[in-house]
Amino acid sequence: MKTGILARYREHLPVTDSTPPLSLGEGGTPLVRAERLSAVIGAEVWLKLEGCNPTGSFKDRGMVVAVAKAMEAGSRAVICASTGNTAASAAAYAAKAGLMAIVVVPAGNIAPGKLAQAIIHGARVLALQGNFDQALAVVQELVARHAVAPVNSVNPDRIQGQKTAAFEVCDLLGEAPDILAIPVGNAGNITAYWRGFQQYHAAGQIRRLPQMWGFQAAGAAPIVQGKPVAEPQTVATAICIGNPASWHGAVAARDESGGIIEAVSDEEILSAQSFLARAEGVFCELASAASVAGIRKLAREGRVPPGVRIVCILTGSGLKDPASAVAGVTPPQAVPAELERVERELGWS
Ligand code: F0G
Repeated sequence: MKTGILARYREHLPVTDSTPPLSLGEGGTPLVRAERLSAVIGAEVWLKLEGCNPTGSFKDRGMVVAVAKAMEAGSRAVICASTGNTAASAAAYAAKAGLMAIVVVPAGNIAPGKLAQAIIHGARVLALQGNFDQALAVVQELVARHAVAPVNSVNPDRIQGQKTAAFEVCDLLGEAPDILAIPVGNAGNITAYWRGFQQYHAAGQIRRLPQMWGFQAAGAAPIVQGKPVAEPQTVATAICIGNPASWHGAVAARDESGGIIEAVSDEEILSAQSFLARAEGVFCELASAASVAGIRKLAREGRVPPGVRIVCILTGSGLKDPASAVAGVTPPQAVPAELERVERELGWS
């Protein structure tokens, strides 16, 4: 089997004979039926585990294309602004490609695992005193002045790569789902999925298109509010974005598909993360849990048609930020290595 999305979906991607065959084995992530969540929602719910990508998030799909195209164009360095996952992915693929990576992240508002990834892969990490939106503005200025390739999702190659996840969903289910539920931050991914579904539809690979259901965190919900949020705030740092670059793409995906973009509270996000971990065996990061928080909320409001097939995109791994997942939990006390003491601790004596 071909590994990596450049090889597997070559005919749908901007690949030429001179595009290097870059891969860390991205794509081909599991699509898992979620029985307990389905029972709660009253629908057939599937989870797409994008945290199983090489650097632990969906960003690898877009990054492999963006970095391969940067190599093809003769670039020596790539740059991005990031809430963390794009930085981790850019750093890893640049390392593999032998390019330099520069990543600009909001100081103090990035999960430790993502920062560790950027550092260990040898990226030049710049912690900006500002939020993601300010970091992206700085990066766009730098790109205009210096010879460095941008690998944010404003780079169309990123969207091209990320749309392959929609292809995989259709390939595995044999048809598009009724509803695609997805977290929305900078709005590149919802844009990419919608393009993927549209292209598969146009190519005759699927007969119908899904409704796109996007979810933003309530403290960072510019698309829901219809205006930029100057100081976005949410526990889901990956989607703490007040002025998404692909705003129009997200609105088009929503409107053309007859879908929705709504907000979920931090409490709903935290609760969805914990539910997925305990009831489905899947540890996703907080931003990812927004998709499940969203369908749980809509189900409570009676807005999920019974029996529909829903695919929730779990965009990143919970292992990026283990401390936030167990915040408020008392760590286990050490017990002497004696059978009786262990039995007593377990309440079995
Ligand atoms: N989920 C995770 C885990 C993310 O890291 C992101 C975005 C999203 C969802 C939202 O996707 O931006 O395409 O709407 N992370 C970017 C980053 C912003 O810098 O890593 P989006």
